[in-house]
Amino acid sequence: MRNLFPDNEGHFGEFGGKFVPETLMPALDELEDIFRLAINDNNFTEELDHLLTSYVGRPTPLTFAKNLTKKLGFKIYLKREDLCHTGAHKINAAIAQGLLVKKMGKSRVVAETGAGQHGVATATACALLGIDAVIYMGAKDYDRQKINVARMRLLGATVIKVDSGSQTLKDAINEAIRDWVTNVSTTHYLIGSVVGPHPYPEIVRSFQSIIGKEVKDQIMIEEKKMPDIVIACVGGGSNAMGIFHSFIDEENTKLIGIEAAGEGLNKKHAATLSVGTTGILHGMKSLVLQNSDGQIQEAHSISAGLDYPGVGPEHAWLKSIKRAEYYSVTNEVALMGVKLLSESEGIIPALETAHAVGYLPELTNVLNEQSVLVLNVSGRGDKDMDIISEKLNFFST
Ligand SMILES: Cc1ncc(COP(=O)(O)O)c(C=O)c1O
Repeated sequence: MRNLFPDNEGHFGEFGGKFVPETLMPALDELEDIFRLAINDNNFTEELDHLLTSYVGRPTPLTFAKNLTKKLGFKIYLKREDLCHTGAHKINAAIAQGLLVKKMGKSRVVAETGAGQHGVATATACALLGIDAVIYMGAKDYDRQKINVARMRLLGATVIKVDSGSQTLKDAINEAIRDWVTNVSTTHYLIGSVVGPHPYPEIVRSFQSIIGKEVKDQIMIEEKKMPDIVIACVGGGSNAMGIFHSFIDEENTKLIGIEAAGEGLNKKHAATLSVGTTGILHGMKSLVLQNSDGQIQEAHSISAGLDYPGVGPEHAWLKSIKRAEYYSVTNEVALMGVKLLSESEGIIPALETAHAVGYLPELTNVLNEQSVLVLNVSGRGDKDMDIISEKLNFFST
């Protein structure tokens, strides 16, 4: 059995840690104390379980993808996080952190969002739990995810458009951190992925690991064995860590993460694990996209949720010990993935998820009809319909 928990300073191997200004250290310590108390407190876990069942809609189904299985020649199961309330896995960690905010006695939350899914999940949790929400969003993401901006506003959140830098997720994170530093006594930074300073990567993974726990039970009922492959898309890495975590000690189950190769690895992309180098970003040591001076480079992906120049430290560690494999697919392949899942199964995936779907044809040579693969459908594609329609020329004359 591997030790799957970070050390006291939050290191997964050489990755992780807390690289933050001194003023934030007490807030991180308080958060860690509250988190450890909460996960051992029956009142907290019962309240969370109740909300996950009655509000989020858990457990999400594991759907056998019959037509895709026939097409590709190996058994494909889909873990349906797209059926969670608000349409993606992000709500799992948002609700749980919302309950931690109440426990800390804080009244305000700041968050950043790329695709808007985490912002919507945060605004939803805050509406439910009576917490003020301020969501920072890069101007480019704001423009390409308008529906999610409207959803956040309707849910009562303040959405702030960030015009600095590359106007995407990394700039939104910088602004959220700035706000948090200023208002730390009243405000919790609700991080949406397994990134940031310790204890965030561990907290978010812990709350997302329900995905893999459910899959383990569900696949035993369906197949009476563990899957040969578990595959998920990777932006910051929370849906992938959520489904991987329970399988790390299942040595016969291969774990595969798929990143965004954008326009290609020699052009603009977000393939941090594939070609990034060790550096510091957003309070953590991980693999990042940077130049030789350590300046963070602009990431690019057709999917706003994968458009991030870093990745969670636990993924960097899993890669370094060769327990998980990471590959990348381009925007074009992701669009093919959207079409493939939509046309074969009647399920329109988010563009993020579509990266993992787009990789499946690569596996036809290594898998056979007895092989079992589980793909995490991290979210649904409604939010991406404008981009998909444009790229697939649905309305061209
Ligand atoms: C549907 C969906 N999938 C995946 C991601 C990527 O995030 P993560 O790698 O943390 O799961 C996002 C991010 O917004 C998302 O909205």
